Amino acid sequence: MDKEFLIENFINGIPKAELHLHIEGTFEPELMFKIAKRNNIKIKYESVEELRNAYSFGNLQDFLNIYYEGANVLMTSDDFYDLTKAYLDKIHSQNVLHCEIFFDPQTHTSRGISFGTVITGIHKALTEAKEKNGISSYLIMCFLRDLDLESAMKTFEEAIPFKDWIMGVGLDSAEVGNPPSKFKDIFDLARSKGFMTVAHAGEEGPAEYIREALDLLKVSRIDHGNNSLHDESLVEELVRLKIPLTICPLSNHKLRVVDKLENHPLKKMMEMGLEVTINSDDPAYFGGYINENYLAIANALNLSKEDICRIAKNSFNASFLTDVDKELLNKKVDEYMAQST
Ligand code: ADE
Ligand code: ZN
Repeated sequence: MDKEFLIENFINGIPKAELHLHIEGTFEPELMFKIAKRNNIKIKYESVEELRNAYSFGNLQDFLNIYYEGANVLMTSDDFYDLTKAYLDKIHSQNVLHCEIFFDPQTHTSRGISFGTVITGIHKALTEAKEKNGISSYLIMCFLRDLDLESAMKTFEEAIPFKDWIMGVGLDSAEVGNPPSKFKDIFDLARSKGFMTVAHAGEEGPAEYIREALDLLKVSRIDHGNNSLHDESLVEELVRLKIPLTICPLSNHKLRVVDKLENHPLKKMMEMGLEVTINSDDPAYFGGYINENYLAIANALNLSKEDICRIAKNSFNASFLTDVDKELLNKKVDEYMAQST
């Protein structure tokens, strides 16, 4: 058997968690057309193929424009349920045992869809996936950083009746010009109410934004964090504090954060002692779910089985699971490694 086949099988089977995934970014064109028809909404593309062909992005903003347009099709709780169920079925086939899912409430509430409509549909699918497939999950509600603090505050209030269904808050959307400092007050409030915090930082924005996310938003993880490598003392701080980076290889390539995967800094990050995980970000738009991300970066950087094993363990250790669960899941990875050699 050739090496590539072996590594693909190894990746497919290894137990893993996904920690950086936007549920709106899992909206496959086929489902988008189906839901659009059901809701009597006209999509500006004629066919699934034409829509897929539009998925070519020069930068993050190019992508966000099409991503928000796609999300406009989602109207009812059933729509959010179908979207979430499709993702959970997919990751079940990829041996994901735990996921922490972002959703963007403002994308929907700004169109008159209630917070309750959105979260009820997502939550129903998560509960079923736990019962049927044993996949555990947490929800992280993201604030859109290109909107103002007042809008984030209003969204937070809308979330309070559903707070038992939400593990944490995050920060996403157009990064440059929207630094973490803009959201210090809402993150202070969220932490005081018991929410965990994460933030996208250093995807297109400078290392300084990562510092702000750490110092001002007091995040437990940095989503992306690629640009941390421009600041040696920041990397030392991330290593010292054991702050994980949720890395998204195919996203980084599609959004031109890296020119080619062979130049992706993931391996270098590991060598520097950073705790990295591999994730799919917006798989319907970037050409692959979590296993395709593992495989593409493993091939590009010649990752070993040990590297992959380390990353899979990182994915559990960087999660918001309890220490007991983390230990159990680390053991599963060890058992998998032992029977695969
Ligand atoms: N929203 C969805 N995907 C995103 C990304 N990669 N960066 C920022 N915001 C996003
Ligand atoms: Zn993201």
